Amino acid sequence: ENDILGKLPLRAKKILITAGPTYEAIDPVRFIGNHSSGKMGYSIAETAAELGAEVVLISGPSSLKLENDFVKLIRITSAEEMYQAAHKYFDASDIAILSAAVADYRPAEVSSEKIKKKTDNLTIELTKTKDILASLGAIKKKQFLVGFALETQNEEENAKSKLKKKNLDLIVLNSLRDKGAGFKSDTNKVTLIAKDNKMLPFPVKPKIEVAKDILEYIIENIHA
Ligand code: CTP
Ligand code: CA
Repeated sequence: ENDILGKLPLRAKKILITAGPTYEAIDPVRFIGNHSSGKMGYSIAETAAELGAEVVLISGPSSLKLENDFVKLIRITSAEEMYQAAHKYFDASDIAILSAAVADYRPAEVSSEKIKKKTDNLTIELTKTKDILASLGAIKKKQFLVGFALETQNEEENAKSKLKKKNLDLIVLNSLRDKGAGFKSDTNKVTLIAKDNKMLPFPVKPKIEVAKDILEYIIENIHA
């Protein structure tokens, strides 16, 4: 893999990356979130910058720090904020890689006051968030659009259907079944699935190596 680090194959390419979880407010002190660390997206951002790309990283709440000063970091909190930021930068991008674990639902109403403890049971109504990836797939022109799929069952079938439905050029299937894969782990096990449904499985590796595999695939296929 190191041979691709010798040159700057992504020089002058603009890359938009989303990473981390989103937090959906319930009231001023509470939210609905998920366990995403942001590690996969941050690894892709750092590696892409090392390969010469101009990187915009839109990140949900994450404790990670960026080592590379050439990555433009935009911090957001909610799915709606990530949607707005992604659309702001998509037009000018050559490549977009959406690795964020975006909340699928948010509370239908956000209480302006802290919700007080009263009844034994409390129901919070949820409403769907916008699908950022699908919305970019619907308007993309020259952009090479990459999504992730987090699956626990019918993995390949579900990933292939997301690839088609969201109009992607590549989907990264993330297997949660495998040991050494997933949200909190420093390693990941992925299968790349191309537009023609061709599958490229990889072994469990550190996320920084997975980032190189994904970017290497994009570099080889962006003009195909
Ligand atoms: N995604 C997004 N906006 C959302 C939900 C998901 O941009 N509101 C993106 C993720 O960043 C990821 C891809 O869509 O690249 C797939 O996310 P995933 O959760 O696996 O699939 P969903 O389409 O949300 O379907 P489900 O959760 O029901 O499997
Ligand atoms: Ca989802």
